[in-house]
Amino acid sequence: MDQQLIKTVNLLQDAFAQSGLSTSTIDLPQIAVVGSQSSGKSSVLENIVGRDFLPRGTGIVTRRPLVLQLINRPATPKANGDAKQEEGSKPTTDKASNPDEWAEFLHRPGEKFFDFNKVREEIVADTELKTGKNAGISPVPIGLRIFSPNVLTLTLVDLPGLTKVPVGDQPRDIEIQIRNMLLKYIQKPNSIILAVTAANTDLANSDGLKLAREVDPEGLRTIGVLTKVDLMDQGTDVVDILAGRVIPLRLGYVPVVNRSQRDIDNNRPIHAALDSERQFFENHPSYRSKASYCGTPYLTRRLNTILMHHIKATLPDIKQKISQNLTKYEAELASLGGPNGGTDGSSVILQIITEFCGDFRTAIDGSSSDLALNE
Ligand code: GDP
Ligand code: NA
Ligand code: MG
Repeated sequence: MDQQLIKTVNLLQDAFAQSGLSTSTIDLPQIAVVGSQSSGKSSVLENIVGRDFLPRGTGIVTRRPLVLQLINRPATPKANGDAKQEEGSKPTTDKASNPDEWAEFLHRPGEKFFDFNKVREEIVADTELKTGKNAGISPVPIGLRIFSPNVLTLTLVDLPGLTKVPVGDQPRDIEIQIRNMLLKYIQKPNSIILAVTAANTDLANSDGLKLAREVDPEGLRTIGVLTKVDLMDQGTDVVDILAGRVIPLRLGYVPVVNRSQRDIDNNRPIHAALDSERQFFENHPSYRSKASYCGTPYLTRRLNTILMHHIKATLPDIKQKISQNLTKYEAELASLGGPNGGTDGSSVILQIITEFCGDFRTAIDGSSSDLALNE
């Protein structure tokens, strides 16, 4: 039921994106990643997904928002060999690919990417299309969905990192432009903020936490992620931060260890990295006793729980907004001469919204009784 609910929220998000109706009309819950440049944001997202697919590295690598929908989809039983290919799809395969895991870009509808290296190449290519090659940035998001039996259903947004000094083709006011881009995603009351800080930097100077605090002063929807715990000076640890003795956050902090630049250069597989992350926390004297509250798998479970609570808490609001919009579009539609009279796409929008409201209602309470939606 909970999984179904998040799936439906994902469908709604898609429907709104494709109808040309701004998603800000109805703010659906999602998780946005903020922090300084190279603090490890893209690495954290990759570990959550469990596949290599994001451009990452030193310097400004993420230069446009990436709206990433993870959709849990059970593996196709291996009955008579091969998994069924859906019609109209152009599979991009490689030897290491798994027929049950693929990606699709909103800007390349119907095309399935089974090779996640190709996904990364497409993110880079489409980033350059909008921003050029020389470190430019753009607020135009890239939409990507990943279907897999190995992910929890979640929507995540990868964002450029906070930076102060312009390089390459970056505008003079790069700091302000990136801030505004991030604020657009995190100021929505129903976005959950993943504030990433490298553990080998001072938490008090964390750009991610500072920005999160501006829009969520009470820390009700900010979760702290501490990366690079492996790079801390010997004899130091994040125990005080985890215990809430430094900058307390209601939703707490999760420490993680991602792949180092050398791991990336050596194409170290993600499963090997997750294994050593687990070993790191299990064997470290400071974390041994609380290893089950450390690392990427715990972060993923935590995120899913937070997202569920959040969706449940914001549902009444979402219901009301959908209802208001339906009424508005119906009125517009009527003024255009009835349900089939619209020539500007309004009727299509209405149809899509009505359809998804039906799904949404079913997912929420399994009946049509308690949502006052007009159909
Ligand atoms: P972003 O700019 O915040 O998206 O950061 P990236 O994910 O691109 O990572 C920046 C650099 O930091 C890369 O070279 C990563 O390999 C490295 N890195 C990220 N997280 C960790 C970590 O937990 N440990 C180590 N040793 N390196 C990390
Ligand atoms: Na980076
Ligand atoms: Mg990045």
